[in-house]
Amino acid sequence: MPFLVSGTVDALGAGVDDVAVGDRVVGFLPMTGTGAAAEYVIASAEILTGAPGNIPLADAAAFPLVALTAWQALFDHGKLTAGQRVLINGAGGAVGGYAVQLAREVRAHVIATAGPRSAERVRAAGADEVIDHTTTDVTAAVTEPVDLVVNLAPVAPEQLGTLIRDGGTLVNTAVWMPAPSDEERGVRGIDLFVRSDADQLADLAARISTGELRVDVAQRVALADLPALHARAGAGELPGKTVVLAPTA
Ligand SMILES: NC(=O)c1ccc[n+]([C@@H]2O[C@H](COP(=O)([O-])OP(=O)(O)OC[C@H]3O[C@@H](n4cnc5c(N)ncnc54)[C@H](OP(=O)(O)O)[C@@H]3O)[C@@H](O)[C@H]2O)c1
Repeated sequence: MPFLVSGTVDALGAGVDDVAVGDRVVGFLPMTGTGAAAEYVIASAEILTGAPGNIPLADAAAFPLVALTAWQALFDHGKLTAGQRVLINGAGGAVGGYAVQLAREVRAHVIATAGPRSAERVRAAGADEVIDHTTTDVTAAVTEPVDLVVNLAPVAPEQLGTLIRDGGTLVNTAVWMPAPSDEERGVRGIDLFVRSDADQLADLAARISTGELRVDVAQRVALADLPALHARAGAGELPGKTVVLAPTA
């Protein structure tokens, strides 16, 4: 995703006083702009927040979109609170890693689906139960209703609706398959479109700084290799988050 940026502030526009030249920052640029695949990027100061100090600056570009998606799914839309049960379907992916950690942090009971390549990582992230979606029918494996389903997998959201208690919520990021509501049972279906939010980003960066949240980077590639990277992504050969490194001056 070329709209995520981390770097050092090189120059300021007029009237900017909450960031300074030399600050290490991270941000989620507007998706209507030109993106961040460059040595220098112009960004509005209000979308930037301080980068966590305990990870390499370039790696900090790996978390804004996926961590914000997880946060907004669980808390803005899902209203998840302590003691509630949440099913994170597709927890083996980049968003899922943060969703499991954040849900666990508020002391929710976390049920996660993950294939064999991801199960150990998802368990380590804090899932209470891990269901192997490659061998098990998730709708049969979840025997008690959940308060919230977060669907991150290429699975039709209506398949998961029966797992939700009356009055519960289904938040879906696979927006090409809309999440249905069930008005009779008061189940809300929500299709999530992540938004840039510097305050939430600052909160997430602080959790990374203290070690509460872990940032996973699958690989790092040079900016010059971006065309090949896009080709691999297009062929579905790029799991996890890739950090693109701009050449240093
Ligand atoms: N709407 C938005 O604003 C927004 C924002 C961010 C992301 N998204 C979307 O949200 C989805 C998740 O994003 P991501 O970055 O986490 O993607 P990702 O890294 O590709 O992860 C998706 C994971 O789903 C798992 N999976 C595949 N088939 C499954 C199945 N049948 N049942 C359960 N899990 C299955 C796979 O993990 P295993 O290893 O366990 O098989 C895969 O790693 C993507 O579709 C992405 O496009 C939307």
